[in-house]
Amino acid sequence: MTDHTDSHAELAPAATAEPIADPGLAPHLPRPTDVDPKAERRAERQVAAMFVASMICAILFVIAYYSLDIKDSWDTFLGFGASNLALGLSLGFALLLIGIGVIQWSRKLMVDHEISELRHPAASDESDREKVLADLALGLEESGIGRRPLVRNTLLGALGFIGIPAVVALNDLGPDATPSNIKKTLEKTFWKAGKRVVNDVTGRWIKASDMEIGQLVNAEPEGLVDAFDPRATPEDQERIEAGSLHGAELQVAKTKSAVIVVRMEPKDMTTATQEWAHQGIAVYSKICTHVGCPIALWEQQTHHLLCPCHQSTFDLADKGRVVFGPAARPLPQLPIEVDSEGYLVAKSDFLEPVGPSYWERDSK
Ligand code: FES
Repeated sequence: MTDHTDSHAELAPAATAEPIADPGLAPHLPRPTDVDPKAERRAERQVAAMFVASMICAILFVIAYYSLDIKDSWDTFLGFGASNLALGLSLGFALLLIGIGVIQWSRKLMVDHEISELRHPAASDESDREKVLADLALGLEESGIGRRPLVRNTLLGALGFIGIPAVVALNDLGPDATPSNIKKTLEKTFWKAGKRVVNDVTGRWIKASDMEIGQLVNAEPEGLVDAFDPRATPEDQERIEAGSLHGAELQVAKTKSAVIVVRMEPKDMTTATQEWAHQGIAVYSKICTHVGCPIALWEQQTHHLLCPCHQSTFDLADKGRVVFGPAARPLPQLPIEVDSEGYLVAKSDFLEPVGPSYWERDSK
């Protein structure tokens, strides 16, 4: 059995022992820049050099923005576009150099003395606020911002230049929504009369006779493959090398042209839907008209298509009419027919803009 009396007796002296004395702060050692004017000037020049380098990076951002074409430089370096890489690096270094410069300024040049502050209630009274203001004024004085015009002015310059990339990048918000721009962009997709409908997984043309009642297939127009696509045929490669769509343009075309193909009983469709369909097979844009999520949740019995993002529901038996949810426009239907070999082909491009509808979309 353990003897607890002895162990308590051993602990007793420790409970009444004197608290450990406050060891205090280590003696303050001056920094090289505090005692050597040369080191101080060198540090000042280093800090200024970082701010100047930041300005140069901001200018490089602007040069890269205008000189590197995002379309031509897609996938050029480790899967990143040269344009994206140059923009990211130049802007990243511009910000980083300002940060490092400010840190070096405070470490090497600002006044270096230790301050101890007693804890007190959080609410501050008038005298505290006055003290804070006085401390701020003292901090400004001690930072040397008035005495070091070189550092101050280069920092102000770097902060001014860092705004330039942000202003330049506003250019990427896209063209003005003039009728002619809308016609060329929002109202145009890769679909046109005679383009075959292709299963977007297998890359095979879709035959009308292969579609079953109740089936849904994700599809796209033929010809939308890039050089890295395992489905690309030798003919595709030739087309790509001949300067057809590639890079960012190809991705945009794929996104805007994505469709779903569904088959239902023709008698369940409205007459208007049947006119653009073929024997119960209808093709609709896959892009939700609310804010653009891809949709493919298909209820065979009701012919409803549900968007997973905000539950907009479209009736595919009735021209994509919105039956529920926040979408404000029907899902665009692509007019189709079959060609002489029985494959599904488009009769034309979409006759209305595809995609979200939160701005003025129609050119008419
Ligand atoms: S994106 Fe489809 S409902 Fe919002």
